[in-house]
Amino acid sequence: MKKFKNKVALITGGNSGIGYAAAAEFASEGATVIITGRRAAAIEQAATQIGATGLVSDQASLSDTERLYQDVGSRFGKLDILFINAGITGTQSLIQDASEDNFDSVMNINFKGAYFTLSKFIPLLKDGASVVILSSVVASTHMAKSSVYQASKAALNSMAKTAAVELAGRRIRVNIVSPGPHKTEIMKKAGLNDEAVEQINAHLTESIPLKKMGEVKDIAKLISYFCEDHSSFITGTEVIVDGGMTL
Ligand SMILES: NC(=O)c1ccc[n+]([C@@H]2O[C@H](COP(=O)([O-])OP(=O)(O)OC[C@H]3O[C@@H](n4cnc5c(N)ncnc54)[C@H](OP(=O)(O)O)[C@@H]3O)[C@@H](O)[C@H]2O)c1
Repeated sequence: MKKFKNKVALITGGNSGIGYAAAAEFASEGATVIITGRRAAAIEQAATQIGATGLVSDQASLSDTERLYQDVGSRFGKLDILFINAGITGTQSLIQDASEDNFDSVMNINFKGAYFTLSKFIPLLKDGASVVILSSVVASTHMAKSSVYQASKAALNSMAKTAAVELAGRRIRVNIVSPGPHKTEIMKKAGLNDEAVEQINAHLTESIPLKKMGEVKDIAKLISYFCEDHSSFITGTEVIVDGGMTL
């Protein structure tokens, strides 16, 4: 018997990386899966590969989120699983050199967008549903040149824990997964070329006690666990998946 038979799962940012791996995991376990993203062609390709429904929706746009809510509600009814994953790193800079554009795009996608995705979708969540928030180890680090990304994920963690309290009465659980370095498209999208990504990955691997980067298919299993009945006593928690990097 598949774990998520007759369950409906919405994954924001499901066309690549961690979101795609989680979407594939939910689909392989029998869920009806809906993925979002901004790039129509990438969404269509990913949705076809895993047998999901792909919808273009920018998490930074409240009107897109409202449309997504109407569309998902009318086509699929209530949700069992909401995985708020879409995010970007933005560009690196010291606080003294900060740009308003970078601040707005990172905060609007990672925090404001995630916040209003959860807010709008609460009426569509079934009692007993599971919400997973994709944060990052950077929510609890304070590295130079990463102030906006770090603050966006710290704010997200705060929201997730408050939501866990507010939604517990409906047995809706809200948990946080905070990855350390995983090989995905995220750094290239931030404007880094292949060589720079290789160099950063080599440096990161050296700084991780387990001497490797994370695999998206593994973190997908953890996200899946938070949506199973076996985790019915777990809410408002954060699991850090970083090979010991932040110890
Ligand atoms: N990879 C890591 O090492 C790592 C570590 C810690 C945390 N994270 C977090 O993990 C999450 C997933 O990132 P990833 O590493 O899997 O990178 P990725 O491969 O770039 O995936 C990001 C996903 O989010 C979507 N997305 C980005 N902005 C969006 C927006 N405004 N509206 C809707 N969808 C949007 C992307 O689709 P489009 O490009 O089509 O919009 C894509 O599907 C992010 O929240 C990231 O901060 C990643």
